[in-house]
Amino acid sequence: MLPAVAGAALNLIVVALLYLIVAAKCSVAQSVPCALRQYRTGSVCVCNVTYCDTLEFEEPITVGEFLLVSSSRDGVRFGQSRGWFGNASKADFIPEVKPVPKQRFARSTRPVTIQLNRRRMFQTVVGFGGAFTGAVSYNLGKLKPALRKSLYRSYYSKTVGIGYNLMRIPIGGCDFDLKPWAYNELPVDDPMLTNFTVLDERDTSKIAQIQELMDVADNHDIKFMGAAWSPPRWMKSNNDWSGSSRLKAAYYQTWADYHIKYLQLAKDAGLNYWAISTGNEPMNAVIGFLFVRFMSLGWTAPSQGKWVGEHLGPTLKNSDFRNVKLFSGDDQRYTFPWWFSQMNQGHPNATNYLDGLAVHWYWDGVTPPALLDQAAHLYPDKLVFNTEASLGDKPFQTHGPILGSWDRAESYITYILQDLQHSVHGWIDWNLLLNEIGGPNYAKNYVESAVVVNATSGKEAYKQPIFYGLGHFSRFITEGSTRFETISSDSGVIVVGFTRPDQKTTLVFYNKKSSSCEVIIKDPERGVAQLHLPPKSVHSILYA
Ligand SMILES: *[C@@H]1O[C@H](CO)[C@@H](O)[C@H](O)[C@H]1NC(C)=O
Ligand SMILES: *[C@@H]1O[C@H](CO)[C@@H](O)[C@H](O)[C@H]1NC(C)=O
Ligand SMILES: *[C@@H]1O[C@H](CO)[C@@H](O)[C@H](O)[C@H]1NC(C)=O
Ligand SMILES: *[C@@H]1O[C@H](CO)[C@@H](O)[C@H](O)[C@H]1NC(C)=O
Ligand SMILES: *[C@@H]1O[C@H](CO)[C@@H](O)[C@H](O)[C@H]1NC(C)=O
Repeated sequence: MLPAVAGAALNLIVVALLYLIVAAKCSVAQSVPCALRQYRTGSVCVCNVTYCDTLEFEEPITVGEFLLVSSSRDGVRFGQSRGWFGNASKADFIPEVKPVPKQRFARSTRPVTIQLNRRRMFQTVVGFGGAFTGAVSYNLGKLKPALRKSLYRSYYSKTVGIGYNLMRIPIGGCDFDLKPWAYNELPVDDPMLTNFTVLDERDTSKIAQIQELMDVADNHDIKFMGAAWSPPRWMKSNNDWSGSSRLKAAYYQTWADYHIKYLQLAKDAGLNYWAISTGNEPMNAVIGFLFVRFMSLGWTAPSQGKWVGEHLGPTLKNSDFRNVKLFSGDDQRYTFPWWFSQMNQGHPNATNYLDGLAVHWYWDGVTPPALLDQAAHLYPDKLVFNTEASLGDKPFQTHGPILGSWDRAESYITYILQDLQHSVHGWIDWNLLLNEIGGPNYAKNYVESAVVVNATSGKEAYKQPIFYGLGHFSRFITEGSTRFETISSDSGVIVVGFTRPDQKTTLVFYNKKSSSCEVIIKDPERGVAQLHLPPKSVHSILYA
């Protein structure tokens, strides 16, 4: 009897093991595909209460094998394929000395080469993310819980979503709110901030949503960055939310204390900030007030330097929040790098208190990216982050979402590529999601968003092409990835390359051309890989 029992037990174990192996094979990660819907203006991926596309894949582990993830104007969204580097052409790495006679090849058929050079290394990336504004919180409140959770996973999951790890949050109100607001609006002229003792209910519900996001997306290492748009009106020279303003000198310390009070109340509620900035777009209330209709606080660089050097810097460093990083700038690219040197004219220590330099996208079309490199060169120990971008902000553009616009995705993709090629360590989008008109926004400053929700029904959300453009960077360029030199033989194919902390290589590249093209990736350590890129397509390649 005993041997038979043992035999049966053994059989059972073998069967169980086989079952486990088969189950493991069957659970090979496979994405839920995009439910593509055509609107007059383009194609979006629709998420509803029961369905939402994912990005799931097995990471290549065998040396030489690569995973290619692609999206295109013509409707591919995170399409996957696999291939191998070949060793046959390794000799090609000796620089081609024989010039190819021009007339022998039609220009369009000659393959584009992307050459990797790991010997030239650049910045190490911290990550990617979006902003959780009052409008985002309000819109989420309109959605059915199942849809809300899918969107949390879509953005912040590292296994099924695009793996965001950064989040910007306004301290008090911003323009993407139902109305302007700040802590301690009452009583006025109250330097001790006696009425700033609990979180506003807008913040308690926002923090509850962020906690649900962290749980649902199973991501508990998000880096939160805070930024204030304006103090309560009584602290300002014009006693108003918008218009030309400065902080009253009598309240320099009060405004620093305000930030510490907020960090403490947020911490008590379970939200631990990684960084704060010196305030959103200070130039809005210095020169921009003629066209900026939303809450802002004006600073000149020297006056902000004085505030940081004498008040905010020492107050932060002597508080329980001394490890919270401090970013300054938080304004357009044209402020780089002079803003920081002028801060030091206000106080010699001002920039010593800074851990990072923050820049916004809006004027990138008319200011050169070399300004970012100059700032990075002057302050080599500081992080350079893009902390805001959104399309549809210019007078001649559609304010608000254009459903399915690939042009807008292309704009994001090419500007992110440019930033990464010019010293940027982190890239944060503006509102994570907006409603059909690109709001709510009390100043009617409606803009585009990577995810547009159907706030009418609360049952659908539309992932814009921009969402996929962002995901090609955020999911693959993991925190701690270091950029190396990549040289494309054709300005129509733009590329960035990184060595990740897991030692894998990832490249993100975009075929800007309206025609397809052949690309040969030449990696001195792996050989060559040949790829066919459809017109207007973005790709992430990953290999061990
Ligand atoms: C949700 O989307 C899926 C995929 O497009 C579709 O099959 C399903 O009918 C939708 N469900 C509802 C309730 O609209
Ligand atoms: C690589 O080269 C070896 C011999 O040099 C050859 O046997 C092998 O088939 C090659 N592999 C590929 C993928 O070309
Ligand atoms: C404290 O602020 C609340 C609004 O948040 C206001 O209703 C109340 O009047 C304020 N208290 C004082 C003493 O001003
Ligand atoms: C500048 O900061 C250093 C510490 O980083 C401090 O010792 C020094 O007193 C500061 N100087 C001024 C003028 O505040
Ligand atoms: C949002 O949902 C409503 C109600 O189902 C529908 O009429 C409307 O067309 C939807 N909006 C979009 C942009 O699809």
